[in-house]
Amino acid sequence: MKVETLRWAHNKLEMIDQRILPAVFEYVRCDSAAAVAEGIRRMVVRGAPAIGVAAAYGVALEALRQQDKLAAEFKVSLETGFTVLAASRPTAVNLFWALQRMRKVWESVAAHTPQRIAQCLLAEAHEMLAEDIRINKAMGANGAALLADGARVLTHCNAGALATAGWGTALGVIRSAVEAGKKISVIADETRPFLQGARLTAWEMVQENIPVTLITDNMAGYLMAQGEVDAVVVGTDRVAANGDVANKIGTYMVAVLARRHNIPFYVACPLSTLDLNIATGKDIPIEERAVDEVKGFRDTHWAAAGVKIRNPAFDVTPADLVTGLITEKGVVLQPDAQGIRKLFG
Ligand code: MRU
Repeated sequence: MKVETLRWAHNKLEMIDQRILPAVFEYVRCDSAAAVAEGIRRMVVRGAPAIGVAAAYGVALEALRQQDKLAAEFKVSLETGFTVLAASRPTAVNLFWALQRMRKVWESVAAHTPQRIAQCLLAEAHEMLAEDIRINKAMGANGAALLADGARVLTHCNAGALATAGWGTALGVIRSAVEAGKKISVIADETRPFLQGARLTAWEMVQENIPVTLITDNMAGYLMAQGEVDAVVVGTDRVAANGDVANKIGTYMVAVLARRHNIPFYVACPLSTLDLNIATGKDIPIEERAVDEVKGFRDTHWAAAGVKIRNPAFDVTPADLVTGLITEKGVVLQPDAQGIRKLFG
């Protein structure tokens, strides 16, 4: 089944509304950088690579919207679009990587008319979407080789087709292994508080008849101790130059448990998620989201009124807990600064 997380239709960007899946399957249409930024901030679209591609379309949409303005005005409006998009979410480096790439395209055609610039930016956004799927398939093939036939693979959050332009990173590895004829079953952590595992990963796997079992986050240790987990594969939002991995809150806990039980812990990571400008995980900005997400779910609140609440959306797993980084250029076992630098050859 092909999940089109993001699609270009009627000269607008449409994105699956991931806040209401799996109960409702619906697209939200965006026509400006501000609308895309709002979609990212509110998590209509989420997952590092999907955020990056959406932001690229946000730039293109803004350029199309402003293309009849005079060159100077066009420039100011497009700069505002970049600023609004950059402020949407802080942790996934793919957002900033995508904006940087769009800026380079803009600079390369800056002397042309706004109409021409807008067309070039749109072409680049289309290319980034297609490229993301190609990269995920390459990563999938590299990672599939690490999974034994019959493996029971635990994953956290959603690093699937919904988190990318298609195929997925962590779930892409699982899809590729299944496509190669291996019998793989998935254990999906529910992933409190936003429930990406229960709502999105479980939905993706059920759609494709890949066996999946849902657990709450606090059940992972028990299953590992029972010998029911053969490997962990997760995605990531940003990997520092030394290999420290930022991913959805709770990933660190899974990595510690995996080490305790001698279970390999793999991170599927396109090169666009590696941030060589950040030396270690300590410097990765961690988003704190609204406390309402922890208080309850949607309109139901179960936490005691007046209680103090924290809601960090990501955590950092130190590189020494990572068995391997699965990238489109190959697998870096026991990742460190040297191994990561080599990827950029
Ligand atoms: O807050 P989210 O849902 O955007 O967080 C997503 C994750 O943490 C994913 O694991 C990560 O972006 C990798 S997606 C291929």
